[in-house]
Amino acid sequence: MAGVTSTWTEPSNTATALLLLGRGSDPASERGVDCPGDLPAPSDPGLVARATAAKAALGDRVFVLGHHYQRDEVIQFADVTGDSFKLAQQAAARPDAEFIVFCGVHFMAESADILTTPSQQVILPDLAAGCSMADMAVLGQVETAWERFTDLGIAGDVVPVTYMNSSADIKGFVGRNKGVVCTSSNAKRALTWSFEQGSKVFFLPDQHLGRNTAVLEMGFDLDDCVLYDPHKPGGGLTDDELRDARMILWRGHCSVHGRFTLDSVREVRERVPGVNVLVHPECRHDVVRAADQVGSTEYIIKALEAAPAGSAWAVGTELNLVRRLALAHPDKQVMFLDRTVCYCSTMNRIDLPHLVWALEELVAGRVPNVITVDEDTAHHARAALDQMLALP
Ligand code: 13P
Ligand code: SF4
Repeated sequence: MAGVTSTWTEPSNTATALLLLGRGSDPASERGVDCPGDLPAPSDPGLVARATAAKAALGDRVFVLGHHYQRDEVIQFADVTGDSFKLAQQAAARPDAEFIVFCGVHFMAESADILTTPSQQVILPDLAAGCSMADMAVLGQVETAWERFTDLGIAGDVVPVTYMNSSADIKGFVGRNKGVVCTSSNAKRALTWSFEQGSKVFFLPDQHLGRNTAVLEMGFDLDDCVLYDPHKPGGGLTDDELRDARMILWRGHCSVHGRFTLDSVREVRERVPGVNVLVHPECRHDVVRAADQVGSTEYIIKALEAAPAGSAWAVGTELNLVRRLALAHPDKQVMFLDRTVCYCSTMNRIDLPHLVWALEELVAGRVPNVITVDEDTAHHARAALDQMLALP
């Protein structure tokens, strides 16, 4: 083709640069910085053998955690796979591993650092693996909202709850204010506990998980929920709206699960009669209402294991997981809920070249991409995480 060259140069370090393979940095996002050193080429046919050899050389010194949304090429090297709750538990349960290599995103690695011992180091193979939802709640914005509640005289009634998918700063804020962290596996238990401590919940940063749990699992009305928009003065809410609300939802969402629409559900029901629609609670409220089942990634995996042969399932969650489920259940019809390809782009930053690079650096005695949370933040965030791990 005229004008097309065979080589392609990575864009310069601007906010819109693609940052292929995690090189360069995006100052507007969750701490993406350069990966120092030379990454192996993605086309290197020896990558699997190199990762296998490096992991074997490290033995019990390394423990590799893999979130369900990771690529197959990475998941094959995970010692444990899981959703964010299971991975947090697993990180806390491995005090003997010197290095925790976290194949997931930045906020998960931060939580692992908080829950592991000071002598352990948590490594994120690509520091550009952030999360757009976590980026939607910045500490200064959340403190501004809390000042508003204080001025209004309601802060004493409000229990802050943050989804695991938030920065350590936000978890620290929640711990300081006697709240709790939750995941999609335990959101109902976290809200039940919170409503025993106060009459209102301030739910960060995923409005959909907060609304879906409150309305569909705990019997609240949609009218009990208000949406706090950090980009509007006063959150865009009147004093009366804040006084009357039971759930104050932060205006944040997951850019992957937010793509599923009511039309996707209607369309798949027309195309596949009898299909079961199974979605993650980060999906929009109308989508979750129209689905047959809703649950965390671990729930989705178990639901498909328990499904009878011959049944049909349209699954509304990240595509790497749905693809693996389709391959694992050839006797069932497992399909993606939407026609649009829907990978989590930040989860996908962790690829085999980055994993090989991180493991080989460890073998060489260098510890790359260490995720550390400062002691004060970690202290308060740990309180909110411990409260989650102790939920009845
Ligand atoms: P869970 O792992 O809690 O199901 O959350 C899904 C997700 O979006 C992780 O980033
Ligand atoms: Fe963040 Fe959504 Fe990706 Fe999870 S799937 S890391 S919430 S953008």
